[in-house]
Amino acid sequence: MRDTTCSGLHATEVIIDLLTDSGTGAMSAEQWAGMMRGDESYAGSRSFFRFESVVKDITGFDQVIPTHQGRAAEKILFSVAVKDGDVVPNNTHFDTTRANVEYQGAEARDLVIAEGRDPSVILPFKGNMDTEALRATIEEVGADRIPMVMLTVTNNSGGGQPVSMENVRAVRAVCDEYGLPLIFDACRFAENAWFVKIREDGYEDKTPKEIAQEMFSYGDGATMSAKKDGLANIGGFLALNDTEWALEARNILILTEGFPTYGGLAGYDLEAIAVGLEEVLDENYLRYRIRSTEYLADKVHGAGVPIVLPAGGHAVYIDAAAMLPHIPPHEYPAQSLAIELYRTGGVRGVEIGTVMFGTRDPDGGPDNPAAMELVRLAIPRRMYTQSHIDYTAEVVIDVAGRSDELAGYRITEQAPWLRHFTCTFEPMA
Ligand SMILES: Cc1ncc(COP(=O)(O)O)c(C=O)c1O
Repeated sequence: MRDTTCSGLHATEVIIDLLTDSGTGAMSAEQWAGMMRGDESYAGSRSFFRFESVVKDITGFDQVIPTHQGRAAEKILFSVAVKDGDVVPNNTHFDTTRANVEYQGAEARDLVIAEGRDPSVILPFKGNMDTEALRATIEEVGADRIPMVMLTVTNNSGGGQPVSMENVRAVRAVCDEYGLPLIFDACRFAENAWFVKIREDGYEDKTPKEIAQEMFSYGDGATMSAKKDGLANIGGFLALNDTEWALEARNILILTEGFPTYGGLAGYDLEAIAVGLEEVLDENYLRYRIRSTEYLADKVHGAGVPIVLPAGGHAVYIDAAAMLPHIPPHEYPAQSLAIELYRTGGVRGVEIGTVMFGTRDPDGGPDNPAAMELVRLAIPRRMYTQSHIDYTAEVVIDVAGRSDELAGYRITEQAPWLRHFTCTFEPMA
Protein backbone atom coordinates (compact mmCIF):
# COMPACT_ATOMS: atom_id res chain seq x y z
CA MET A 1 0.00 0.00 0.00
CA ARG A 2 1.24 3.50 -0.78
CA ASP A 3 1.85 5.66 2.26
CA THR A 4 -1.37 7.59 1.85
CA THR A 5 -4.83 7.33 3.31
CA CYS A 6 -6.84 4.41 1.97
CA SER A 7 -8.28 6.70 -0.71
CA GLY A 8 -4.81 6.68 -2.33
CA LEU A 9 -5.27 3.06 -3.45
CA HIS A 10 -6.38 2.03 -6.91
CA ALA A 11 -9.78 0.32 -6.65
CA THR A 12 -8.36 -2.65 -8.56
CA GLU A 13 -5.99 -3.22 -5.64
CA VAL A 14 -8.91 -3.71 -3.25
CA ILE A 15 -10.79 -6.98 -2.69
CA ILE A 16 -13.67 -5.78 -0.48
CA ASP A 17 -14.23 -2.05 -0.73
CA LEU A 18 -15.82 -0.66 2.41
CA LEU A 19 -14.30 2.81 2.08
CA THR A 20 -17.73 4.35 1.75
CA ASP A 21 -21.39 3.66 1.06
CA SER A 22 -21.48 6.88 -0.95
CA GLY A 23 -22.32 6.41 -4.61
CA THR A 24 -20.94 2.87 -4.52
CA GLY A 25 -24.22 0.94 -4.61
CA ALA A 26 -25.69 -0.99 -7.50
CA MET A 27 -28.61 0.69 -9.24
CA SER A 28 -31.77 -1.24 -9.93
CA ALA A 29 -33.22 -2.17 -13.32
CA GLU A 30 -35.88 0.52 -12.74
CA GLN A 31 -33.23 3.15 -12.13
CA TRP A 32 -31.40 2.18 -15.32
CA ALA A 33 -34.69 2.23 -17.18
CA GLY A 34 -35.31 5.71 -15.77
CA MET A 35 -31.90 6.78 -17.03
CA MET A 36 -32.86 5.71 -20.55
CA ARG A 37 -35.82 8.09 -20.27
CA GLY A 38 -33.64 11.01 -19.10
CA ASP A 39 -34.61 14.32 -20.65
CA GLU A 40 -31.46 16.33 -21.30
CA SER A 41 -33.13 19.68 -22.00
CA TYR A 42 -30.96 22.39 -20.54
CA ALA A 43 -33.84 24.12 -18.76
CA GLY A 44 -37.13 22.79 -17.39
CA SER A 45 -36.56 19.15 -18.32
CA ARG A 46 -39.19 16.50 -17.63
CA SER A 47 -36.61 14.68 -15.51
CA PHE A 48 -36.24 17.69 -13.22
CA PHE A 49 -39.98 17.91 -12.58
CA ARG A 50 -40.14 14.20 -11.86
CA PHE A 51 -37.22 14.56 -9.42
CA GLU A 52 -38.75 17.66 -7.83
CA SER A 53 -42.13 16.01 -7.29
CA VAL A 54 -40.57 12.96 -5.56
CA VAL A 55 -38.42 15.17 -3.29
CA LYS A 56 -41.43 17.35 -2.44
CA ASP A 57 -43.60 14.32 -1.75
CA ILE A 58 -41.11 12.86 0.74
CA THR A 59 -39.79 16.04 2.38
CA GLY A 60 -42.68 18.46 2.01
CA PHE A 61 -40.16 21.25 1.35
CA ASP A 62 -41.21 23.75 -1.25
CA GLN A 63 -37.99 24.74 -2.93
CA VAL A 64 -35.97 21.91 -4.44
CA ILE A 65 -32.50 22.66 -5.78
CA PRO A 66 -30.51 19.84 -7.36
CA THR A 67 -26.74 19.70 -6.74
CA HIS A 68 -24.01 17.37 -7.94
CA GLN A 69 -23.62 15.92 -4.43
CA GLY A 70 -24.24 16.62 -0.76
CA ARG A 71 -21.29 18.91 -0.09
CA ALA A 72 -22.38 21.23 -2.90
CA ALA A 73 -25.74 21.63 -1.15
CA GLU A 74 -23.87 22.38 2.08
CA LYS A 75 -21.53 24.87 0.45
CA ILE A 76 -24.39 26.74 -1.18
CA LEU A 77 -26.58 26.78 1.93
CA PHE A 78 -23.76 27.97 4.19
CA SER A 79 -22.64 30.62 1.67
CA VAL A 80 -26.16 32.00 1.86
CA ALA A 81 -26.88 31.65 5.57
CA VAL A 82 -23.67 31.33 7.61
CA LYS A 83 -21.24 34.15 8.30
CA ASP A 84 -17.98 34.76 10.10
CA GLY A 85 -18.34 34.30 13.86
CA ASP A 86 -21.54 32.22 13.68
CA VAL A 87 -21.99 28.88 15.43
CA VAL A 88 -23.78 25.94 13.80
CA PRO A 89 -24.94 23.24 16.25
CA ASN A 90 -25.38 19.70 14.90
CA ASN A 91 -25.60 16.30 16.60
CA THR A 92 -22.29 15.55 14.82
CA HIS A 93 -21.08 17.35 11.73
CA PHE A 94 -19.89 15.11 8.96
CA ASP A 95 -16.39 16.06 7.74
CA THR A 96 -17.54 17.98 4.65
CA THR A 97 -20.28 19.71 6.67
CA ARG A 98 -17.79 20.79 9.33
CA ALA A 99 -15.30 21.96 6.70
CA ASN A 100 -17.96 23.96 4.85
CA VAL A 101 -19.13 25.62 8.08
CA GLU A 102 -15.55 26.45 9.04
CA TYR A 103 -14.83 27.74 5.54
CA GLN A 104 -17.39 30.50 6.25
CA GLY A 105 -15.43 31.43 9.39
CA ALA A 106 -18.06 29.87 11.65
CA GLU A 107 -17.78 27.24 14.38
CA ALA A 108 -19.24 23.76 13.84
CA ARG A 109 -20.35 22.56 17.27
CA ASP A 110 -21.18 18.90 17.93
CA LEU A 111 -23.88 18.36 20.55
CA VAL A 112 -24.63 14.64 20.40
CA ILE A 113 -25.79 13.11 23.70
CA ALA A 114 -22.90 11.98 25.94
CA GLU A 115 -23.72 8.29 25.33
CA GLY A 116 -23.21 8.93 21.61
CA ARG A 117 -19.51 9.40 22.30
CA ASP A 118 -19.14 6.13 24.18
CA PRO A 119 -18.80 3.23 21.73
CA SER A 120 -19.76 0.58 24.29
CA VAL A 121 -23.07 2.04 25.53
CA ILE A 122 -26.07 0.35 23.95
CA LEU A 123 -28.99 2.70 23.37
CA PRO A 124 -31.60 2.70 20.60
CA PHE A 125 -30.98 6.30 19.51
CA LYS A 126 -27.36 7.22 20.14
CA GLY A 127 -27.48 9.85 17.40
CA ASN A 128 -29.80 12.10 19.43
CA MET A 129 -28.88 15.69 20.11
CA ASP A 130 -28.42 16.84 23.69
CA THR A 131 -31.19 19.44 23.82
CA GLU A 132 -29.96 20.92 27.10
CA ALA A 133 -26.54 21.48 25.51
CA LEU A 134 -28.32 23.02 22.54
CA ARG A 135 -30.20 25.43 24.78
CA ALA A 136 -26.99 26.25 26.69
CA THR A 137 -25.16 26.92 23.40
CA ILE A 138 -27.88 29.28 22.21
CA GLU A 139 -27.85 31.12 25.56
CA GLU A 140 -24.06 31.35 25.50
CA VAL A 141 -23.66 32.44 21.87
CA GLY A 142 -26.92 34.34 21.34
CA ALA A 143 -29.58 33.28 18.83
CA ASP A 144 -28.49 35.98 16.38
CA ARG A 145 -25.17 34.17 15.87
CA ILE A 146 -26.85 30.82 15.21
CA PRO A 147 -28.10 30.78 11.63
CA MET A 148 -29.51 27.25 11.86
CA VAL A 149 -29.54 24.08 13.92
CA MET A 150 -28.69 20.87 12.05
CA LEU A 151 -29.53 17.23 12.67
CA THR A 152 -27.64 14.53 10.81
CA VAL A 153 -29.76 11.43 10.21
CA THR A 154 -28.33 8.93 10.75
CA ASN A 155 -25.30 10.29 12.60
CA ASN A 156 -22.52 9.12 10.29
CA SER A 157 -19.50 10.42 12.22
CA GLY A 158 -21.01 9.17 15.47
CA GLY A 159 -21.29 5.55 14.38
CA GLY A 160 -24.23 5.69 11.95
CA GLN A 161 -26.57 5.92 14.95
CA PRO A 162 -30.18 7.02 14.47
CA VAL A 163 -32.07 10.00 15.86
CA SER A 164 -35.48 9.35 17.42
CA MET A 165 -38.62 11.20 16.39
CA GLU A 166 -39.00 12.27 20.01
CA ASN A 167 -35.57 13.94 19.80
CA VAL A 168 -36.42 15.59 16.47
CA ARG A 169 -39.53 17.06 18.12
CA ALA A 170 -37.53 18.20 21.15
CA VAL A 171 -34.91 19.90 18.96
CA ARG A 172 -37.73 21.53 17.00
CA ALA A 173 -39.21 22.84 20.24
CA VAL A 174 -35.89 24.47 21.23
CA CYS A 175 -35.58 25.97 17.73
CA ASP A 176 -39.10 27.38 18.09
CA GLU A 177 -38.26 28.93 21.46
CA TYR A 178 -35.46 30.93 19.83
CA GLY A 179 -36.88 31.32 16.32
CA LEU A 180 -34.17 29.20 14.66
CA PRO A 181 -34.49 27.09 11.52
CA LEU A 182 -33.88 23.35 11.70
CA ILE A 183 -32.06 21.80 8.75
CA PHE A 184 -31.60 18.05 8.28
CA ASP A 185 -28.46 16.52 6.86
CA ALA A 186 -30.70 13.86 5.39
CA CYS A 187 -28.23 11.54 3.59
CA ARG A 188 -29.58 8.45 5.35
CA PHE A 189 -33.13 9.54 6.08
CA ALA A 190 -34.63 6.18 5.05
CA GLU A 191 -32.30 4.15 7.27
CA ASN A 192 -33.16 6.51 10.12
CA ALA A 193 -36.87 6.01 9.41
CA TRP A 194 -36.39 2.25 9.60
CA PHE A 195 -34.74 2.50 13.02
CA VAL A 196 -37.63 4.67 14.21
CA LYS A 197 -40.07 2.04 12.96
CA ILE A 198 -38.41 -0.86 14.74
CA ARG A 199 -37.20 0.92 17.89
CA GLU A 200 -39.57 3.75 18.77
CA ASP A 201 -42.97 3.22 20.39
CA GLY A 202 -45.90 4.24 18.24
CA TYR A 203 -44.16 3.84 14.87
CA GLU A 204 -44.32 0.08 14.37
CA ASP A 205 -47.36 0.30 12.09
CA LYS A 206 -46.22 3.30 10.07
CA THR A 207 -44.46 2.97 6.76
CA PRO A 208 -40.88 4.24 6.37
CA LYS A 209 -42.26 6.89 4.04
CA GLU A 210 -44.79 8.13 6.60
CA ILE A 211 -42.04 8.26 9.21
CA ALA A 212 -39.71 10.18 6.89
CA GLN A 213 -42.51 12.60 6.02
CA GLU A 214 -43.22 13.22 9.70
CA MET A 215 -39.54 13.83 10.43
CA PHE A 216 -39.16 16.32 7.60
CA SER A 217 -42.36 18.08 8.71
CA TYR A 218 -40.47 19.30 11.81
CA GLY A 219 -37.71 20.90 9.69
CA ASP A 220 -37.22 23.94 7.51
CA GLY A 221 -34.97 22.32 4.98
CA ALA A 222 -32.46 19.60 4.17
CA THR A 223 -29.14 18.99 2.53
CA MET A 224 -28.95 15.61 0.86
CA SER A 225 -26.38 13.41 -0.77
CA ALA A 226 -28.35 11.20 -3.14
CA LYS A 227 -25.29 8.93 -3.24
CA LYS A 228 -26.58 7.38 -0.01
CA ASP A 229 -30.33 6.99 0.42
CA GLY A 230 -30.94 8.31 -3.10
CA LEU A 231 -29.47 4.95 -4.23
CA ALA A 232 -27.70 6.80 -7.03
CA ASN A 233 -24.06 6.97 -8.04
CA ILE A 234 -24.03 10.78 -8.02
CA GLY A 235 -26.29 13.65 -7.03
CA GLY A 236 -27.82 15.56 -4.18
CA PHE A 237 -30.10 18.42 -3.38
CA LEU A 238 -30.84 21.34 -1.14
CA ALA A 239 -34.50 21.59 -0.16
CA LEU A 240 -35.86 24.59 1.71
CA ASN A 241 -39.03 26.35 2.73
CA ASP A 242 -37.44 29.80 2.92
CA THR A 243 -37.94 31.40 -0.49
CA GLU A 244 -35.31 34.10 0.11
CA TRP A 245 -32.60 31.61 0.98
CA ALA A 246 -33.70 29.53 -2.02
CA LEU A 247 -33.47 32.51 -4.37
CA GLU A 248 -29.93 33.29 -3.23
CA ALA A 249 -28.99 29.61 -3.31
CA ARG A 250 -30.16 29.34 -6.93
CA ASN A 251 -28.04 32.34 -7.88
CA ILE A 252 -24.95 30.70 -6.40
CA LEU A 253 -25.96 27.40 -7.99
CA ILE A 254 -25.84 29.01 -11.42
CA LEU A 255 -22.30 30.22 -10.69
CA THR A 256 -20.97 26.89 -9.46
CA GLU A 257 -23.22 23.98 -10.45
CA GLY A 258 -25.45 24.86 -13.37
CA PHE A 259 -28.98 25.95 -14.21
CA PRO A 260 -31.46 25.45 -11.33
CA THR A 261 -33.30 22.60 -13.06
CA TYR A 262 -30.20 20.43 -13.43
CA GLY A 263 -27.70 21.70 -10.82
CA GLY A 264 -24.61 19.92 -12.10
CA LEU A 265 -26.43 16.70 -12.96
CA ALA A 266 -27.50 15.09 -16.20
CA GLY A 267 -31.23 14.59 -16.78
CA TYR A 268 -30.63 10.85 -16.47
CA ASP A 269 -29.09 11.35 -13.01
CA LEU A 270 -32.25 13.15 -11.89
CA GLU A 271 -34.30 10.16 -13.09
CA ALA A 272 -32.06 7.70 -11.25
CA ILE A 273 -32.43 9.68 -8.04
CA ALA A 274 -36.20 10.04 -8.41
CA VAL A 275 -36.56 6.26 -8.70
CA GLY A 276 -33.95 5.63 -5.98
CA LEU A 277 -35.71 7.86 -3.44
CA GLU A 278 -38.85 5.78 -3.85
CA GLU A 279 -37.09 2.41 -3.83
CA VAL A 280 -35.10 3.22 -0.71
CA LEU A 281 -38.30 3.44 1.33
CA ASP A 282 -39.28 -0.14 0.50
CA GLU A 283 -39.62 -2.09 3.75
CA ASN A 284 -38.05 -5.27 2.42
CA TYR A 285 -35.04 -3.36 1.13
CA LEU A 286 -34.58 -1.54 4.45
CA ARG A 287 -35.03 -4.68 6.57
CA TYR A 288 -32.35 -6.51 4.55
CA ARG A 289 -30.03 -3.49 4.49
CA ILE A 290 -30.05 -2.89 8.24
CA ARG A 291 -29.85 -6.60 8.98
CA SER A 292 -26.77 -7.10 6.78
CA THR A 293 -24.87 -4.42 8.66
CA GLU A 294 -25.95 -5.95 11.94
CA TYR A 295 -24.79 -9.38 10.69
CA LEU A 296 -21.20 -8.15 10.25
CA ALA A 297 -21.37 -6.40 13.63
CA ASP A 298 -22.66 -9.55 15.36
CA LYS A 299 -19.89 -11.68 13.84
CA VAL A 300 -16.97 -9.47 14.79
CA HIS A 301 -18.36 -8.42 18.15
CA GLY A 302 -19.14 -12.06 18.94
CA ALA A 303 -15.42 -12.77 18.42
CA GLY A 304 -14.49 -10.05 20.92
CA VAL A 305 -13.71 -7.19 18.53
CA PRO A 306 -14.63 -3.85 20.13
CA ILE A 307 -17.10 -1.95 17.95
CA VAL A 308 -19.56 0.89 18.30
CA LEU A 309 -22.74 -0.64 19.69
CA PRO A 310 -25.39 -1.12 18.55
CA ALA A 311 -24.52 -1.58 14.85
CA GLY A 312 -25.00 1.53 12.75
CA GLY A 313 -27.28 1.62 9.75
CA HIS A 314 -24.76 1.76 6.94
CA ALA A 315 -21.53 0.71 8.60
CA VAL A 316 -19.75 -1.15 11.34
CA TYR A 317 -17.34 1.04 13.30
CA ILE A 318 -14.40 -0.70 14.94
CA ASP A 319 -13.27 0.98 18.16
CA ALA A 320 -9.54 1.32 17.46
CA ALA A 321 -8.90 3.15 20.76
CA ALA A 322 -10.12 0.06 22.64
CA MET A 323 -8.35 -2.38 20.33
CA LEU A 324 -5.01 -0.55 20.23
CA PRO A 325 -4.59 1.13 23.64
CA HIS A 326 -0.80 1.14 23.10
CA ILE A 327 -1.11 3.64 20.20
CA PRO A 328 -1.90 7.19 21.37
CA PRO A 329 -4.40 9.28 19.36
CA HIS A 330 -1.71 11.47 17.78
CA GLU A 331 -0.13 8.32 16.32
CA TYR A 332 -3.46 7.51 14.67
CA PRO A 333 -4.51 4.06 15.95
CA ALA A 334 -7.50 3.86 13.61
CA GLN A 335 -5.33 4.65 10.59
CA SER A 336 -2.93 1.92 11.66
CA LEU A 337 -5.82 -0.54 11.91
CA ALA A 338 -7.24 0.50 8.53
CA ILE A 339 -3.84 -0.11 6.91
CA GLU A 340 -3.51 -3.53 8.54
CA LEU A 341 -6.99 -4.61 7.40
CA TYR A 342 -5.94 -3.80 3.87
CA ARG A 343 -2.56 -5.50 4.16
CA THR A 344 -4.09 -8.64 5.63
CA GLY A 345 -7.12 -9.16 3.43
CA GLY A 346 -7.44 -6.38 0.87
CA VAL A 347 -10.32 -4.89 2.88
CA ARG A 348 -10.50 -1.12 2.55
CA GLY A 349 -12.17 0.84 5.33
CA VAL A 350 -11.64 4.40 6.47
CA GLU A 351 -10.26 6.11 9.55
CA ILE A 352 -12.78 8.23 11.44
CA GLY A 353 -10.63 9.49 14.26
CA THR A 354 -7.85 11.98 14.82
CA VAL A 355 -6.72 12.02 11.17
CA MET A 356 -10.23 13.06 10.14
CA PHE A 357 -11.41 15.09 13.11
CA GLY A 358 -8.37 15.88 15.28
CA THR A 359 -7.25 19.49 15.30
CA ARG A 360 -3.71 20.51 14.56
CA ASP A 361 -1.65 22.15 17.25
CA PRO A 362 -0.69 25.63 15.99
CA ASP A 363 2.76 25.26 17.62
CA GLY A 364 3.49 21.96 15.86
CA GLY A 365 2.81 19.76 18.92
CA PRO A 366 0.72 16.60 18.86
CA ASP A 367 -2.79 16.91 17.36
CA ASN A 368 -5.71 17.42 19.72
CA PRO A 369 -7.48 14.08 19.55
CA ALA A 370 -10.93 13.39 18.10
CA ALA A 371 -13.68 12.18 20.44
CA MET A 372 -13.36 8.61 19.14
CA GLU A 373 -10.83 6.55 17.16
CA LEU A 374 -12.88 4.48 14.73
CA VAL A 375 -12.39 2.49 11.56
CA ARG A 376 -15.59 2.59 9.55
CA LEU A 377 -16.46 -0.37 7.37
CA ALA A 378 -19.26 1.09 5.25
CA ILE A 379 -21.43 -1.34 3.34
CA PRO A 380 -22.31 -0.28 -0.21
CA ARG A 381 -25.99 -0.72 -0.99
CA ARG A 382 -27.10 -3.80 -2.98
CA MET A 383 -23.49 -4.84 -3.67
CA TYR A 384 -22.01 -7.54 -1.47
CA THR A 385 -23.26 -11.01 -0.62
CA GLN A 386 -23.15 -12.82 2.69
CA SER A 387 -19.90 -14.58 1.75
CA HIS A 388 -18.18 -11.25 1.14
CA ILE A 389 -19.27 -10.18 4.59
CA ASP A 390 -18.12 -13.49 6.12
CA TYR A 391 -14.70 -12.98 4.52
CA THR A 392 -14.53 -9.41 5.87
CA ALA A 393 -15.33 -10.64 9.36
CA GLU A 394 -12.53 -13.22 9.14
CA VAL A 395 -10.02 -10.51 8.20
CA VAL A 396 -11.13 -8.23 11.04
CA ILE A 397 -10.98 -11.06 13.57
CA ASP A 398 -7.52 -12.11 12.35
CA VAL A 399 -6.11 -8.58 12.75
CA ALA A 400 -7.77 -8.15 16.15
CA GLY A 401 -6.06 -11.34 17.31
CA ARG A 402 -2.61 -9.80 16.80
CA SER A 403 -3.42 -6.16 17.47
CA ASP A 404 -0.46 -5.78 19.85
CA GLU A 405 1.85 -6.03 16.80
CA LEU A 406 0.41 -2.87 15.20
CA ALA A 407 2.33 0.39 15.53
CA GLY A 408 1.46 4.06 15.08
CA TYR A 409 1.97 6.39 12.12
CA ARG A 410 3.06 9.98 11.62
CA ILE A 411 1.73 12.34 8.96
CA THR A 412 4.30 13.50 6.43
CA GLU A 413 2.11 15.82 4.32
CA GLN A 414 -1.33 17.30 4.90
CA ALA A 415 -3.73 19.80 3.35
CA PRO A 416 -5.22 22.62 5.46
CA TRP A 417 -8.80 21.26 5.04
CA LEU A 418 -10.13 17.73 4.89
CA ARG A 419 -6.59 16.41 5.21
CA HIS A 420 -7.73 12.81 5.50
CA PHE A 421 -8.56 12.65 1.80
CA THR A 422 -4.97 13.19 0.68
CA CYS A 423 -2.46 13.19 3.56
CA THR A 424 0.54 10.88 3.52
CA PHE A 425 2.00 8.82 6.38
CA GLU A 426 5.07 6.96 7.47
CA PRO A 427 5.22 4.30 10.14
CA MET A 428 6.68 5.34 13.50
CA ALA A 429 10.22 4.07 13.78
C1 LIG B 1 -23.75 12.69 6.89
C2 LIG B 1 -23.15 13.17 5.60
N1 LIG B 1 -23.30 14.44 5.22
C3 LIG B 1 -22.80 14.92 4.07
C4 LIG B 1 -22.07 14.10 3.22
C5 LIG B 1 -21.51 14.68 1.95
O1 LIG B 1 -22.10 14.13 0.82
P1 LIG B 1 -21.29 14.02 -0.56
O2 LIG B 1 -20.23 13.01 -0.39
O3 LIG B 1 -22.33 13.61 -1.56
O4 LIG B 1 -20.73 15.37 -0.87
C6 LIG B 1 -21.87 12.77 3.58
C7 LIG B 1 -21.07 11.87 2.70
O5 LIG B 1 -20.58 10.85 3.09
C8 LIG B 1 -22.42 12.28 4.81
O6 LIG B 1 -22.28 11.02 5.19
